[in-house]
Amino acid sequence: MSESNFPKHIAIIMDGNGRWAKERGLKRTAGHEEGAKVVRNITIHCAKLGVKYLTLYAFSTENWSRPKLEVEYLMKLLEKYLKNELETFLKNNIRFKAIGDLSKFSKSLQNTIKEIGEKTANNSGLTQVLALNYGSKDEILRAIRKLNERNLEVNEKNFESCLDTAGFSEVDLLIRTSGEIRLSNYLLWQNAYAEMFFTSTLWPDFSTNELDYIIDDFNKRQRRFGGV
Ligand code: IPE
Ligand code: IPE
Ligand code: MG
Repeated sequence: MSESNFPKHIAIIMDGNGRWAKERGLKRTAGHEEGAKVVRNITIHCAKLGVKYLTLYAFSTENWSRPKLEVEYLMKLLEKYLKNELETFLKNNIRFKAIGDLSKFSKSLQNTIKEIGEKTANNSGLTQVLALNYGSKDEILRAIRKLNERNLEVNEKNFESCLDTAGFSEVDLLIRTSGEIRLSNYLLWQNAYAEMFFTSTLWPDFSTNELDYIIDDFNKRQRRFGGV
C-alpha cells in the first residue's frame, strides 16, 4: 500500500446486524453481539496499519425509535463492550473517545464512557471514536449554540472547534456496510470531501481483508478537492 494517500481518518457506518441475524433465524440482538466482535478486529487492524482516527457509528439519534427491548439490549452491550475493551485499548496504544449527545444515556453508561476515555487519554496510536446518540444535525445545532455562548466569529475554524469532532482530522474515507447508499445523518460536515465506499457485506461479516481491499481502492483514487 502506498503511504502517500493513506487514509488518516476512516469513518464507518456499521450497518446490517439485524439482517445478518435474520438470515440465520436468530434474534436481531445476536447480530449486534456478533457486530461488536467485528468492531474489536477492525479497530486493532486499523491501529496496526497506522490509521489515526476510526470513527464508528454505533447508535444514532434516530435509533431510539427502535423497539424498547432492542434499545435496552444495545445499551447493555455498549457498556459491556467498553469495559471489556479497556485491555485491548491499553495493549494496542488506542485512545478512546465518544461523540454525540451523551447526556441522554444512563449515569452508569456515561461514567463508563468517561472512565475509558480518561484511562486511555495518553495513548498515542489510533483514536477509536464511537458515535453514540449521534446525529449530525443535532451536533451542528449544538455547535452553533456553543459558538454563540463563546461569542466566536462565524468561520470554518471556529465552527469546527465547536463540533464534537474538534481536533480530529477530516474524514478521508467513509465506508457503509449492508448495501444501503445513504448517510443517515452521519458526519455531514466532516464528510464534505471524504471518498466513499459502499459494500453489500453485512457488518458482522465485514473482515480485515475487505478493509484492506477498500484502502487499496482508496489509494488509487485521485482526490482533487476542487482543483484539477
Ligand atoms: C446496525 O445494524 C447497528 C445499529 C444501528 C445499532 P442494524 O441494526 O441497523 O441492522 P439492519 O440494518 O436492521 O440489518
Ligand atoms: C445507521 O444505521 C446508524 C448506525 C449504524 C448506528 P440505521 O440502520 O439506523 O440507518 P437507516 O435507518 O437504515 O438509515
Ligand atoms: Mg440498519
